[in-house]
Amino acid sequence: MPGLVIVGTQWGDEGKGKVTDLLAKDASAIVRFQGGNNAGHTIVHDGEEYKFHLIPSGILHEDKYCVIGNGVVVDPRVLLEEIEGLHKAGVSASNLRVSSNAHLIMPYHVLVDAAEELKLGKLSIGTTRRGIGPAYADKAYRIGIRVQDLLDEKILRKKIMAALEHKKKSLQELAVRRRKLHKEAEPDEEIQIDDRLDLHTITEQYLSYGHRLEPYIADTARLCWNELDAGNKVIFEGAQAALLDLDHGTYPFVTSSNPIAGAACVGAGVGPTDIGEVWGIVKAYSTRVGSGPFPTELFDEVGEHMSDRGHEFGTTTGRRRRCGWLDLVALRYAVRLNRLSHLAMTKLDVLSGLETIKVAVRYRSKEGALLEDFPYHQTILHNATPEYVDLPGFSEDITGCRSEEDLPPAAREYIAFISEFVGVPISLVGVGPGREEVVWVEDRG
Ligand code: GDP
Ligand code: IMO
Ligand code: MG
Repeated sequence: MPGLVIVGTQWGDEGKGKVTDLLAKDASAIVRFQGGNNAGHTIVHDGEEYKFHLIPSGILHEDKYCVIGNGVVVDPRVLLEEIEGLHKAGVSASNLRVSSNAHLIMPYHVLVDAAEELKLGKLSIGTTRRGIGPAYADKAYRIGIRVQDLLDEKILRKKIMAALEHKKKSLQELAVRRRKLHKEAEPDEEIQIDDRLDLHTITEQYLSYGHRLEPYIADTARLCWNELDAGNKVIFEGAQAALLDLDHGTYPFVTSSNPIAGAACVGAGVGPTDIGEVWGIVKAYSTRVGSGPFPTELFDEVGEHMSDRGHEFGTTTGRRRRCGWLDLVALRYAVRLNRLSHLAMTKLDVLSGLETIKVAVRYRSKEGALLEDFPYHQTILHNATPEYVDLPGFSEDITGCRSEEDLPPAAREYIAFISEFVGVPISLVGVGPGREEVVWVEDRG
C-alpha cells in the first residue's frame, strides 16, 4: 500500500505544502485530488518562496510526476500562469500531468461566485471568489466542461453554449439585484456582465488554453496505478481541510469539495487499499479565513501575537486570518474522519514568547452541558464555549532546533500532550518556514 495521503486537519493553511515537499523526496508522484486555485500552498527553499495554487507541492523535485487529478477544478488561465512562473524561476514543469477528466473553471463561474457573495440577504461565506463552488455545482448538474473538451472544438462550443443558456438567466437576475445594491457596493466589487458570457470569446480563449495545455493532458488515474503497482510511493496532496469539508465541515461555511482523506480515492481514481498512510497537518494553534464558527478564536493580544509572528495572511487572497488556540475537540474529530496514522505539527516556533499555552479539551454548550465530542448539530457548535487546559509556555527561539533534545521541555510537553490526547504520533514538528526547519520525532508507540 504505497499510497500516502496528506490532509489539513483544521480550516486550511496548516502548512500542507511544506510537508508535501518534504515527504515528496521518497515518492515518485505527487497528486492533487480536490479543490482548485482556492488553495495556496507555500514552500520555502533556500530562502526562496514559492506559492502554488494548482500545481502540486512536489514540483520542485523535478524527477517526480506532479499530477492534477480528476477531482480538481482547473482554471486553465491560472494553471498556465503558474507554469509560466515556474519557467521563469528555472523550474521545469515537464513532469506535470493534468487529468482529462478534471473539470474546468469557466469565466462565468468566477462571475457567479463573486455575485453570490454580494447577494442581499444571503449569508456571506467569504469564498475566495475563484469560481470553485459554481464549477463543482455545474459538475454535479452535468453541465460542466472537462479538460478533455479543450481538445475538441465542436464539443467545446456546444457545451459552452449549453452552459451559457443555463447561466444567463440567473446572472441577469443577479445583475438587476446588483444594481439595486449599487449604492452600498465597493466600486471594485462591481459585477459586469461582459464578454465573460460571450460564446465566441470564451470558446476562442479556451481553445487557445487547450492548445497550450495539450502536452500535459493525460490519463492520470492510469499513471497512478502504474506507479502504485510498481511499488512506488504516491503522495495524494489535499487542499483545504477537514473543517472545510463539504459534508463533514461547518456547512455552509465550507468549500465545495471533500478535503478529507477518503476523497483521495475518488479524486485520483485509486482504491482505498492503495492507501497505507494518512498524514494530518496541524498548526500549533488555529486559524480560519472567511466566515463561520471558530470556538477558540481570540480577539486579544495573544491572537495578535499569532497573527503577527505567524504572518497569518492568506496565500490566495491576502486576507488576514482569524487566529485562536488549538482546538483538540476539533482535532480529534479530524483524526477520526481521516483515520490519521501520523500528525505533522507546524509553526510551533510562532508560540514562543507566550507564558502559557492553552488547548481546548472540551466544549460547554449554552445550556451548560459538557461536550467531549465535536457536536453533530451546528447550532450547538455556534454557541459552544471551549474549556481549556493551561500548559507552560516557552520563550526560547526554537527555529534552530533540529532534534527533540534541542526543544525546550515546555515545547516537548506540548507535543506530547496533543499526541496523547488525540492518540496519533506527531512525527514531524515545524520550527520555521524553511524546508530544513523541522524536527523529526521518534515514534515510541
Ligand atoms: P497550506 O495551505 O496548508 O499549504 O499552508 P500555507 O502555505 O497557506 O500557509 C502556511 C504558512 O506557514 C506558509 O507561509 C509557510 O511558509 C509557513 N510555514 C509552514 N510551516 C511553518 C513552520 O513550521 N513555522 C513557520 N514559522 N512557518 C511555517
Ligand atoms: P489551502 O489549501 C484556507 C475557505 C475560504 C472560504 C471557504 C469557501 O491553502 O489550505 P471557496 O473559495 O473554497 O468556495 O471558499 O473556504 N478556503 C480556504 N481557507 N485555506 C484554503 O486552502 C482555503 N480554500 C478555501 O476562505 O471561507
Ligand atoms: Mg494555504
